[in-house]
Amino acid sequence: MFKILESKMLVDNICKFVVEAPLVARSCEPGQFIIVRVDEFGERIPLTIADYDREAGTVTIVVQLLGVSTNKMSKLKAGDSFADFIGPLGQPSEFIHEDIEELKKKSYVFVAGGLGTAPVYPQVKWFNEHGIKCDVIIGTKCKDTLIYEDEMKAIAGDDHVFITTDDGSYIRKGMGTDVLKDLVEDQGKHYDICVAIGPMIMMKFVCKLTKELGIPTIVSMNPIMVDGTGMCGGCRVQVGNETKFACVDGPEFDGHLVDFGSMMSRGRMYRPQEAEAKDHVCNIGLGR
Ligand SMILES: Cc1cc2nc3c(=O)[nH]c(=O)nc-3n(C[C@H](O)[C@H](O)[C@H](O)COP(=O)(O)OP(=O)(O)OC[C@H]3O[C@@H](n4cnc5c(N)ncnc54)[C@H](O)[C@@H]3O)c2cc1C
Ligand code: FES
Repeated sequence: MFKILESKMLVDNICKFVVEAPLVARSCEPGQFIIVRVDEFGERIPLTIADYDREAGTVTIVVQLLGVSTNKMSKLKAGDSFADFIGPLGQPSEFIHEDIEELKKKSYVFVAGGLGTAPVYPQVKWFNEHGIKCDVIIGTKCKDTLIYEDEMKAIAGDDHVFITTDDGSYIRKGMGTDVLKDLVEDQGKHYDICVAIGPMIMMKFVCKLTKELGIPTIVSMNPIMVDGTGMCGGCRVQVGNETKFACVDGPEFDGHLVDFGSMMSRGRMYRPQEAEAKDHVCNIGLGR
């Protein structure tokens, strides 16, 4: 069992958990994920690692409440436990393998969409810990759905965080792509690499823009996963001419090569079953 040390609603439908998982915390790196099972009856839910503390032996996950399992998770409080918390899974972000001096010569921009701000956080934190500043663009629907603003500013610096809201309810109106375009075309910023994490449609449009701007772009894929160990093939992603498995080869890939069309249609494959499951919410094992 994996004890929950902190359980907190960040905004209306996004919940943060700090979990006691010393073995995961000891070896995880930015870009990796875990698979959680709420209880012995639960399904396996892949979630990106949003932070870790090796000394305290804790791992943070940030969860958007969508269907049966994530809503079940949201009922858990500090002191409760997850039945399973498996990881770290997947490949770490590529930059952690680079020579630090070479990395210092490169300029990174992160584009985070909504919930994607949480997985971007450990990556920016890693850069900060290695003495490298990056720009971070956070795009969200409105002020009420914005997460991690203070946390991101604390590590990236106020001047490096650019926030935009779809409806203009906070700071500026528009999408993350509008901000990126402004920074490059109007403010003359140069970026060697862009990392985009968020909804599939957002990553698709960031990639369209960065192709035009000539900025290589990494995206984090979140297809349906089953085993998370490379055996079922459920998480396959078409990257150029190759079929990759997001759980073992990814989840991060070259965004300019990802076939977003097939990813989006496969992501919708189980919608009827997900809706049916939500109508028959099963609380077995939670005792609530
Ligand atoms: C590598 C990876 C990292 C992820 N990181 C996060 C994260 O940090 N925070 C977060 O909130 N969500 C994350 N997700 C998505 C998360 O796993 C799903 O939202 C969750 O499984 C939904 O379960 P549900 O029963 O509540 O909803 P359901 O009603 O079952 O599904 C809602 C939607 O979630 C997706 N989904 C459902 N089952 C799975 C599954 N087994 N694998 C992947 N996606 C699924 C589908 O798009 C589906 O339409 C990640 C997914 C992957 C693959
Ligand atoms: S989830 Fe089964 S191969 Fe990736």
